[in-house]
Amino acid sequence: MIPKVELHLHLEGAAPPEFIRRLADERRQRLVGVFDEDGAYRFTDFANFLAVYEAATSVLRTPADYHRLTLAVLERQAAEGVIYSEIFLSPDFCGGGDLGAWRDFLAAIREAATIAEDRWDTRMRGIVTCIRHLGPDVARRAALCAAETADDWLVGFGIAGEERRGTPGDFAYAFDMAREAKLGLTAHAGEWAGPDSVRAALDDLRVSRVGHGVRAIEDPALVDRLAEDGVVLEVCPGSNIALGLYPSWDRHPVARLHDKGVRVTLSTDDPPFFRTTISREYDRLAEAFGWDAAVFRSLNRTAAEAAFCDDATRAALLKLLEPEDD
Ligand code: ADE
Ligand code: ZN
Repeated sequence: MIPKVELHLHLEGAAPPEFIRRLADERRQRLVGVFDEDGAYRFTDFANFLAVYEAATSVLRTPADYHRLTLAVLERQAAEGVIYSEIFLSPDFCGGGDLGAWRDFLAAIREAATIAEDRWDTRMRGIVTCIRHLGPDVARRAALCAAETADDWLVGFGIAGEERRGTPGDFAYAFDMAREAKLGLTAHAGEWAGPDSVRAALDDLRVSRVGHGVRAIEDPALVDRLAEDGVVLEVCPGSNIALGLYPSWDRHPVARLHDKGVRVTLSTDDPPFFRTTISREYDRLAEAFGWDAAVFRSLNRTAAEAAFCDDATRAALLKLLEPEDD
């Protein structure tokens, strides 16, 4: 199996539906409109996906819940051959933005990550993410939580959520705080908004990576800028297709971006929601574009180079990514 580095995965979005159902049953909490008749997550469009995501997340209430979830997610990552995951964590879900509560959730998640690394030899680092549709003031609280807990494990800050709400510039203060705390920066952009949103993330938030970013393909000058500046895109093709951004794998722009010299990486975003796994993504891309193991190895090297971890960890990852027969 190809060893993989995944940079774009939301912790709650990686929760298997049976995990959420079991917890809801334990809590005697009724979840309405979250599952289809087969027990999979159901949603109709991106706005509804965000609502279903938040409803499912509402059953995760304590640090112990997040400990269990982190273990379940990392066990799957290891089974997929993922040697390193950067996972989005939200202080708004973990303690409602309160710094003291956030520290407790973070400690539980980190403890689970340590167990997973010992047990399954898969590494995790955290990226605090603020949620765009909750607005800039709430984002500032998330950034404070990130800045106060930044270290060699909590390595980044980002923004997710409803991209059609507000502008990246509205969140500049939160990103300035995170940058001062030496966190790596990434922003969801160019998913539901066009190329200008990617430009605004680069200019106003000064990110080195962009979550999705695929709609940059609509603007050749922006594609050139991404390639020249070495901006890394965290591309999640199956997510884009499941949410209706592109009609099929062969129409997805990831191969065109790659061919134009943009540094692309591959991730799954919220895999059980999109009925995908990282292995399935590789299989579909191999079918659609003829990509072979050498291409996937090179994309994983790009991901390791762009990871927000320290250089010793990066060197260890690059070593693990070397072909075995070399
Ligand atoms: N939160 C979880 N998945 C997301 C996505 N694909 N875009 C924006 N916010 C998200
Ligand atoms: Zn995402």
